[in-house]
Amino acid sequence: MTAERTRTAATLPALEKNNLKSKKNFKKLFQNEEKCAIIVSKPSNRTAICGKTIKKEVFDMEIKKQLTTCPKEKPKDESKLGFGHIFTDHMLVMPYDEGQGWHDPVIMPYGDITLSPSAMCLHYGQTVFEGLKAYRRADGGVQLFRPDENFKRLNRSNERLVIPELPEELGLQCLKELISVEKDWVPHTEGASLYIRPFIFAVDPFLGVHPGEHYLFMIILSPSGPYYASGLDPVNIYVENKYVRTVRGGMGYAKTGGNYAASLHSQADAYDQGYSQVLWLDGVEQKYIEEVGAMNIAFVIDGEVVTPSLETGSILSGITRKSALELCRSKGIPVSERRITIQEIADAYDAGKLSEVFGTGTAAVISPVGHLKWGDKVMTINNNKIGPVSQMIYDTLTGIQWGKIPDEFGWIVPID
Ligand code: PLP
Ligand code: COI
Repeated sequence: MTAERTRTAATLPALEKNNLKSKKNFKKLFQNEEKCAIIVSKPSNRTAICGKTIKKEVFDMEIKKQLTTCPKEKPKDESKLGFGHIFTDHMLVMPYDEGQGWHDPVIMPYGDITLSPSAMCLHYGQTVFEGLKAYRRADGGVQLFRPDENFKRLNRSNERLVIPELPEELGLQCLKELISVEKDWVPHTEGASLYIRPFIFAVDPFLGVHPGEHYLFMIILSPSGPYYASGLDPVNIYVENKYVRTVRGGMGYAKTGGNYAASLHSQADAYDQGYSQVLWLDGVEQKYIEEVGAMNIAFVIDGEVVTPSLETGSILSGITRKSALELCRSKGIPVSERRITIQEIADAYDAGKLSEVFGTGTAAVISPVGHLKWGDKVMTINNNKIGPVSQMIYDTLTGIQWGKIPDEFGWIVPID
């Protein structure tokens, strides 16, 4: 059964029901005045969307659908998508209000939102986000890679930022439903995918430094190509000696805007010198390797894959990192997660033992490092070419992600 009617986004039922004292501010969040058809999906139903019939999951929370009547034109040349510039027709929005919890998720047309100028996220950075991708299989189907890990990590970030927990099944339900609606936006071209950005932020109109009582969870989608314009060609990385990204006891393990804000100055300096990103050293002694701006880092020394351990809590626990290490172990390649000094890397380089350096990340996939600059020393890795271990990890992970290689690890979650 579907109930269809036309109304504006500013009169969402979720917001109508909200009779909290700050109700007015929440009502103003959505100013997208496009007229839309609302389709109310009931659990276990088959729901007609834009003339097509999709199979619906059984879920606990009703997700309303308010679909656009004027879909955008999809990108014609998928080889020129770039990263994070284009957004699909719809987004998911779900409010949280203290006393009520997460409620009334809705899929609605992608559009601007308005916030009170005093919204807490704007002042004190109470925000968290995630990044994952939907991939087009050769048979035309769509699949996700380890999305449960992203929702687990989101909750670790939530805990650090004193944001309420989002039940993982609910987050996944919201995501699957949105992807089902936007399936046609998943690129068909090799190397391109649909980048998924779930995020949560505090919207309370209040200037006191205090955890919020009202939040929004949103998911937006962006058909994207490789994060680095160079694709699988090696990137150049600059070791940051002056600034630090995070410190022991800080928020390094959380995926929160503040960590990225802390990186911008160094990243701008790195660009000016012709480097793609910076490699961060620890915030206490500035000698231990942590991670790169948007990826974890690994080294192949004497045939062993060596990567910084997560014990300090200052490094993001990457899902690509975890998968790459699991893959290496399954193939009998020795792996060591431990503290590594930048001096050890320079020494291994000088001794001819450093055969590969690569970054791992959802956006970056596997990015070989061609040049690593530390002070005046520039290390050229594997003659500025991708090495065999990086290539094997890249081929296997992307093979599984694009459905070309059987998934013996149970990492894939199909959408249909
Ligand atoms: N480290 C940082 C700072 C990141 O932004 C990312 C990207 O999400 C990663 C590591 C890699 O994490 P993942 O493999 O889960 O994408
Ligand atoms: C990702 O790889 O998903 C990230 O979040 C990196 C991002 C900062 C571009």
